[in-house]
Amino acid sequence: MWSEKAERVDVKTKYDHLAQWYDVFEFFIEVLAFTFWRKKIFKLVKEKTFLEVGVGTGKNLRYYPAHAKATAIDFSEGMLKYAKQRAAKMGLDANLKAMDVQALRFEPDSFPNIIGSFVFCSVPDPLKGLRELKKVCTPDGRIVLLEHVRPKNFFLGKLFDCINPVVVKRTGVNINRDTAQNIREAGFDIEMEKNLFGNVFKLFVARPRKAAD
Ligand SMILES: C[S@@+](CC[C@H](N)C(=O)[O-])C[C@H]1O[C@@H](n2cnc3c(N)ncnc32)[C@H](O)[C@@H]1O
Repeated sequence: MWSEKAERVDVKTKYDHLAQWYDVFEFFIEVLAFTFWRKKIFKLVKEKTFLEVGVGTGKNLRYYPAHAKATAIDFSEGMLKYAKQRAAKMGLDANLKAMDVQALRFEPDSFPNIIGSFVFCSVPDPLKGLRELKKVCTPDGRIVLLEHVRPKNFFLGKLFDCINPVVVKRTGVNINRDTAQNIREAGFDIEMEKNLFGNVFKLFVARPRKAAD
């Protein structure tokens, strides 16, 4: 059976190469859908201090709340370069860092809000990444994630499974992940799982699970 690990896809290098074309490739879907969905994330970000993981070319920066104390990371220096340029143009005072979400270098309980859009489809070990979020999220904080996931429909699900190896090989993106399950397994309780387009594009809000007394 095909496995992403055995395929040894270098996701970081893929994004480094894709970076200069990323905004062009995504132009239409961005205008038609993503822009509206990004705004939904920021309606849910209440605190001034937050972390964005997988910031990419910085498409969410324009929605950062005024006076935000934001930190944003990405492991692709290529993508991050564009995010830094965007932030500079906007005069945004955000802390943009090269960092792997699978090995975060922040103190535990640092962020009351953590956000990400379309990230855990490409993180090589999504469970490891989500467990890192659990460590750095405050106990009463929450994560807000916009993600695309494997469809629930039997035939569509199988179709996505069949196509996935080719998509991963070409782009580093997995189209058949069960992100809801990964979020739970990483130690969060899902507070909201909202379908944005069929049951493929979703908005998740989750809180760190409290330890049983
Ligand atoms: C599909 S892009 C989304 C970018 C941006 N969030 C957006 O909405 O346009 C996925 C991003 O996640 C980043 N990424 C994937 N795995 C990562 C990891 N392990 N650590 C940090 N960033 C990662 C990629 O480099 C890429 O910039």
